Amino acid sequence: MSETTPESTVEMETLVSLCKRRGFIFPSSEIYGGFESTWDYGPLGTELKQNVKRAWWKAMVQERDDMVGLDSSILMSPRVWEASGHTSHFTDALVECQNCKRRFRAEELSDHGSDEEQQSAAGACPDCGGRLTEARQFNTMFKTFVGAVEEEASIAYLRPETAQGIFVNFENVLTTTRRKLPFGIAQQGKSFRNEITTGNFIFRTREFEQMEMEYFVKPGTDDEWYDYWRQERLNWFVRFGARREHLRLREYAPEELAHYSVGTTDIEFLFPMGWDELEGIAKRTDYDLKRHAEASGRRLDFFDEESGEHFVPYVVEPAVGVDRCVLVFLLDAYHEEEVRGERRAFLRLHPALAPIKVAVLPLSRNEKLAPTSRQVWDLLRPHFMTQFDDAQSIGRRYDLRP
Ligand code: GAP
Repeated sequence: MSETTPESTVEMETLVSLCKRRGFIFPSSEIYGGFESTWDYGPLGTELKQNVKRAWWKAMVQERDDMVGLDSSILMSPRVWEASGHTSHFTDALVECQNCKRRFRAEELSDHGSDEEQQSAAGACPDCGGRLTEARQFNTMFKTFVGAVEEEASIAYLRPETAQGIFVNFENVLTTTRRKLPFGIAQQGKSFRNEITTGNFIFRTREFEQMEMEYFVKPGTDDEWYDYWRQERLNWFVRFGARREHLRLREYAPEELAHYSVGTTDIEFLFPMGWDELEGIAKRTDYDLKRHAEASGRRLDFFDEESGEHFVPYVVEPAVGVDRCVLVFLLDAYHEEEVRGERRAFLRLHPALAPIKVAVLPLSRNEKLAPTSRQVWDLLRPHFMTQFDDAQSIGRRYDLRP
């Protein structure tokens, strides 16, 4: 064996093509020419994605004594989104080229900043140099209709974040689990955003999966927990194989903050297209619980037995996309090496994330070895994801050519 390249930084096209060839991720609806940045996870990708979700759940729920889980529905009352502010504020500034008609998020064309700053920095169309329109706000929630009649009264939204399912269940969880502060409610599930621009493989899509946790704390202690969760989440990525030098924390400027946040830090990753958001950790204060309490008329607060006081807890939220985690772990696992003059690629995935844990590769198909190796396989299958291969040459069976 000769030396392994130290850098795992790989071009996105190389990874996309490896994912397709090896059954990790396929373009969706491919036999019809694909469909607008949608992707399907293949046999190995499905295992990897489930393992990423399991690793998060284990670290965030199972291993902790201050956390419970939830699985809320994607369709919720439209009143949820009015109260949370998503109907009026969940917008992106959109600019359109008057010449080639391409649409961009104003943010893409400028550095981070306010919508006005983004508009003035946007300038000309990066594709054809044409004049860009003024920025207008575009709500990125997907609308649908519930029931047989498509009318205004039956409009519902596909959730753009899983977080609101947690806030509207705060009372249910509190009364059924009798938690004391601080405690968290975690959930994983699909979210949908009608993004103006998508791309960079599974980095930005319109249908994606999130892993979010709302951590309810005593007001005044949220800064401390904000620091704690930023570090905890950074460590999680390193624990499962992301390179520390590919990760950094970036604190938002006040004008970048979402309508619900008084402080946000992104965990950024050095993707092939540059540094970009992997996870966001936000201080949501009592914004969401207060809004839902006002809109629903329910009392969404906490009774502190020690002080005898009722108060609305503050919230610190770490929120990450499953697909972005999959992308990060694949990028940092990718390695190439030269073996006897031939270059080959392989994935150095953390054992907890690896899709296949054990391969049974009998050296020959002779009468003695064949039944014994099948028996070994039978014994292993209930405990691990396994693979059996007695067909190809032994070298080919663990090879992963670029
Ligand atoms: N509840 C807060 C929230 O949703 P966000 O920063 O909008 O915050 C959290 O989203 C995470 O979800 C992001 O850091 C990213 O990992 C993932 N995410 C957001 N939009 C996405 C998209 N269009 N495609 C893939 N992942 C996305």
